[in-house]
Amino acid sequence: MALRMTELIPALSDSEIAAIDAEIAHVPYRSAVAIDALKIVQAHRGWVSDESLRAIARHLEMSAEELDGVATFYNLIFRQPVGDRVILLCNSVTCWIKGCDKVQAAITENLGIGLGETTADNAFTLLPVTCLGACDRAPVMMVGDDLHQDLDPAEIEKALSGEPNRD
Ligand code: FES
Repeated sequence: MALRMTELIPALSDSEIAAIDAEIAHVPYRSAVAIDALKIVQAHRGWVSDESLRAIARHLEMSAEELDGVATFYNLIFRQPVGDRVILLCNSVTCWIKGCDKVQAAITENLGIGLGETTADNAFTLLPVTCLGACDRAPVMMVGDDLHQDLDPAEIEKALSGEPNRD
C-alpha cells in the first residue's frame, strides 16, 4: 500500500501541505512556489525550522540547500524562533542618515532587547532589515504587519503599543 505524502513528511501538517499544493496548482513546476511555501509554514509556526525546511524542499522536489538559499535571500523568512511580534527596523542608508540608530536605542530602552534578541515574555523580536521601500518617510520600521514611518525616538512606545502609522 502506498504511503500518503503527509505520512512521509511529519514536519509539515496536512493543512500546510494543502495550502502549498493549492499554490503548486497554479505554476508549471513545484519549486516555483518556494517562497510561498516558506511563507505558509511561517504563517502556521511563526518561523521555519531546519526540519520543516527539509520537508518543504522534499515536497517541492528541490534540494534543502537550494531552498535554504531562497529562505536566506528573502529576509522576511525567519530561520530562528521569534517573538509574537517582529520589529523589522530598517538600517539601510536613508534610514541610517535619518537616525535609525536613535530609534534602535529607543526600542532597546523600551523593551530591553538589542538587534537579534527577543523579549523575555516572547512578545517582541527586534531584527534589522534592508530598505523597506519607504525611504521618503525614513526612518521606518515594521511592527508585525504594520508599517511605521517618520519615526520619532520619543514616540517609540506608542508605535510598539500597536498603533499603526500609515498616513
Ligand atoms: Fe529605510 Fe529605504 S532606507 S526604507
